[in-house]
Amino acid sequence: PPYRLGVLIGSLSTASINRLLAKALEKLAPAEFEFSEIDYSRLPLYNRDLDADYPQVALDFKESVRQADALLFVTPEYNRSIPGPLKNAIDWGSRPWGTSVWADKPTGVIGASGGSIGTAVGQQTLRSTLSFLNARQMTSPEAYIHFTPGLIDADGEVTVESTREFLTMFMERFAEYTARVLTVIPRP
Ligand code: FNR
Repeated sequence: PPYRLGVLIGSLSTASINRLLAKALEKLAPAEFEFSEIDYSRLPLYNRDLDADYPQVALDFKESVRQADALLFVTPEYNRSIPGPLKNAIDWGSRPWGTSVWADKPTGVIGASGGSIGTAVGQQTLRSTLSFLNARQMTSPEAYIHFTPGLIDADGEVTVESTREFLTMFMERFAEYTARVLTVIPRP
């Protein structure tokens, strides 16, 4: 430690409840995690015609992922999958063939939605992509956050005690998981 934690927020919305969740997690996380958001909002739509002349914005995105010791995906579920912009970013990071930045990264997945299954299906589709890309994944605990108005206030404070405890535990376990992976697989 400290570990550089790259955070990928699955929503581009300024009013995102997942952005709010990420803010709350940063406050609750153990001190060894240094959070930094990995922005992917300016990536064009992936097109393999560009593989031979990768856009600078995509090279920069890949470098930010490479620099992270661990990655945390905080994402909504869109139509029982992940939002297209996030998938687009993952695709950019996986190419050109042989230069993927995802392999062996310790990753955590969490998400919030107003629906009662709290992004469970979207997370499964993300996990199948991360599996294919050979990322390390903390598979347990899982975290499906059913967001109700006021659960997290504008400052990122979690107002429900049991949820605050759960999210704290989740980040502690993710720090332990990251430490374990990094003992086997050296940092970038
Ligand atoms: C949604 N929403 C949603 N919710 C859910 O639980 N399962 C789903 O499959 C979907 N699908 C979906 C598709 C699209 C295109 C939108 C815009 C929304 C609702 C979603 O959970 C809600 O809008 C969240 O507030 C989105 O997260 P952010 O943007 O607030 O982080």
